[in-house]
Amino acid sequence: MKLTGKKALITGSAQGIGLGIAETFLREGADLFLLDVRSAQLRETAESLRKRTAARIEYAVCDLSDLNAAKAAAEDAWSRMDGIDILINNAGIAFREPFADISLERWTKIMDVNVNSMFVLSQVIAGNMVARGTGGAIVNMTSKNGLAGSSMLAHYNASKGAVVLLTQSMAVELAPHGIRVNGVAPGFIDTPLDRKLKERDSSLNLTARTPMGRLGTVDEVANAFLFLASDDASYITGVTLPVDGGHLANASEL
Ligand SMILES: NC(=O)c1ccc[n+]([C@@H]2O[C@H](COP(=O)([O-])OP(=O)(O)OC[C@H]3O[C@@H](n4cnc5c(N)ncnc54)[C@H](O)[C@@H]3O)[C@@H](O)[C@H]2O)c1
Repeated sequence: MKLTGKKALITGSAQGIGLGIAETFLREGADLFLLDVRSAQLRETAESLRKRTAARIEYAVCDLSDLNAAKAAAEDAWSRMDGIDILINNAGIAFREPFADISLERWTKIMDVNVNSMFVLSQVIAGNMVARGTGGAIVNMTSKNGLAGSSMLAHYNASKGAVVLLTQSMAVELAPHGIRVNGVAPGFIDTPLDRKLKERDSSLNLTARTPMGRLGTVDEVANAFLFLASDDASYITGVTLPVDGGHLANASEL
């Protein structure tokens, strides 16, 4: 097992990819602190995971778009778990709309959830890791949309691009303290989020540019988080790893 004795805080873990990361980390021996805004679903998830394991599973409901609440939740997680070794900044939201129609309110909400809360949480957890002096690993969720532009997602793309540079900058400053910081950039993954996109616009062909010709799975993304959070990646920091079936490698529109 790759995470025995490690304590991981995972945001956006009531469902989707965050839940997949939680299940993968549990299988590898970690204790978990789950954080999400969906209170009933988070409680159900935590209770169902507890039935399957002897590991410690704590949780807190928090709306990460409230940055003061995000800071308090990170402090609470650190103190209730008596330290955190791995921070997984996964929570995120997306809306499809033309650039010209994006309201300042929507722009701010996406930035707050997708990147500003990540900054706040990371500052609290990394600050405590530095003070404790035993290092740690932080893995941030970005997206293929943080590495190349696209229509209808200017706010989302900008937030995910900011995560890539936040990841690199934190990696440089935190390396002397034994804290590695990396990112994961999924392409189209078989999740409710992508199924909803497809339902709203049936003409969308999500795999048209993906050389592997299929959607990725939650487990395939969770495995990338596991790799970067574990000692298998002990000399890797500051990278963003695409998990996209070759989508970003394919510049051809033909
Ligand atoms: N699904 C994909 O194809 C895909 C591709 C690239 C990147 N991503 C990224 O992966 C991450 C997870 O996406 P997913 O597909 O699992 O989506 P999802 O909607 O299934 O899960 C997101 C989770 O984040 C939580 N969340 C949302 N807003 C929150 C808030 N204000 N405070 C606290 N928690 C909040 C949700 O309740 C949910 O549990 C996101 O950051 C997303 O941008 C997804």
